[in-house]
Amino acid sequence: MSSQMLNDAREYEAKVGNSVLEEERPRFHLSSRSGWMNDPNGFSYYKGEYHLFYQYFPYDNRWGPMHWAHAKSKDLIHWEYLPAALAPDTTADADGCFSGSAFELNDGRQALMYTGVNVTDEYKKYIQTQCVAVIDDNGEYVKYEGNPVLTSKDLPEGYSRYDFRDPKVFRLDDGTWACVICACKGKTDGRIVYYTSENGIDWTFKSVLAENNGRYGTIWECPDFFELDGKHALICSPMNMTKTPDKYNPGNGTLCLIGTFDQENTKLIEENDQPIDGGVDFYAPTTLIAPDGRRIMVAWMQNWESIAYGAKNFAWFGQMTIPRELHIKDNHLIQNPVREIENYWGNETLYRDVPVCEKMTLDGISGRMLDMTVNVRADSEDAYGLFEIHVASDDNLYTSIRYKRKDHFVTVDRRYSGIRNAVISKRSMKVKDLGGDIKLRIILDRYSVEVFINDGEQALSTVIYTDLSADTISFMADGKAIVDIDKHDLVMNQ
Ligand code: FRU
Repeated sequence: MSSQMLNDAREYEAKVGNSVLEEERPRFHLSSRSGWMNDPNGFSYYKGEYHLFYQYFPYDNRWGPMHWAHAKSKDLIHWEYLPAALAPDTTADADGCFSGSAFELNDGRQALMYTGVNVTDEYKKYIQTQCVAVIDDNGEYVKYEGNPVLTSKDLPEGYSRYDFRDPKVFRLDDGTWACVICACKGKTDGRIVYYTSENGIDWTFKSVLAENNGRYGTIWECPDFFELDGKHALICSPMNMTKTPDKYNPGNGTLCLIGTFDQENTKLIEENDQPIDGGVDFYAPTTLIAPDGRRIMVAWMQNWESIAYGAKNFAWFGQMTIPRELHIKDNHLIQNPVREIENYWGNETLYRDVPVCEKMTLDGISGRMLDMTVNVRADSEDAYGLFEIHVASDDNLYTSIRYKRKDHFVTVDRRYSGIRNAVISKRSMKVKDLGGDIKLRIILDRYSVEVFINDGEQALSTVIYTDLSADTISFMADGKAIVDIDKHDLVMNQ
């Protein structure tokens, strides 16, 4: 039986969420059904369908007592809302159901492991413990009566009870489970702790998988840990990063540590590090394994540092990225949109060897829902130094995607996209020097721009709130650039 609190949320989201017109939402990106969305949770494949839950406050466009919303999909692109799955309605999670993951118990039932929070001590801070809920025959997630299953007592000495969250559970080869959780020694020494379990309910501390040692910010939120292409990767979302010249931006960021796994001591031996997506809006990525073996990642297409509003006041706030297929090549994480997006390709427009200098538009290249790959070459004497594309533009507004050859930075800049508050709106990433050649794949979906560079070596995701009438796309360069363009409109009929 669902609680009154969960029923209220479901009633509200059905009323408000269903009243949002189709054209007032992103079409290909999952957006909050009503109210506020943050981290993706419980991203999983269960009984023939993908499930995606998310941090949710249905009643307002701002963060509040966290619920879990729920959606499902057959192909990771077209999502269907299901009723909210969790509300903060028990003693163990009275002040919120924070992030977590989904897994399948031995009897085939889906279980959720998440962080229950309570504000009960004199410091009025969120005390964090781990809880479990298991699906019943009616599709309700029933909270385990023994919750919480892990508390700060299960942490090593000196760890904070206010920073113990976001459990990510995964199955081990022998059929038991492991779980990585964000933790912190003292106030700033972020750690990822590793637990094991035989039944998914009783968990035992095993090791510290990785620690920040004064690097990469403070607390590493939302960890995920997996094997891919013969390497091991830990992804997480560090808070309080500081800027480095070529890689990291200040504030909340993302980090992928790639290396090998010391099985005996359950420790990651680090070999390489990188930000996951350098755009304005990206945080809290998490992954699943698809039935065909692909490792697929989705993230909150938003960042705590860049919360922006446009002229329209929508009844929803927050979107997910397009799920991305991951690979590791030369100790580097590669990400590309899931191939299922190609099933939504409509009109195709192709151009070959177009010289670009002065600002120009091209017949058939415009719109706000499209998948476009632009191959840029610098093979002439008077080759460009700066190449730029404006999307979602009209006489006054645009979002710029540009590549500066001199320092090899790609920048996505939404300062002129019509946003109404002064938050971070421009982010850059250093890319490989290919002598002026660069490949940019751009996915536009009404209220966002995702850019994948050089076949997924880098990505930059950015939310825009530009009025949909601004749909011009133009190209320009300060010398000559030769471009090939493959553009496909994205069309969803369901
Ligand atoms: C990350 C995060 C998580 C936490 C959740 C709360 O964005 O801070 O660490 O579980 O959001 O909504």
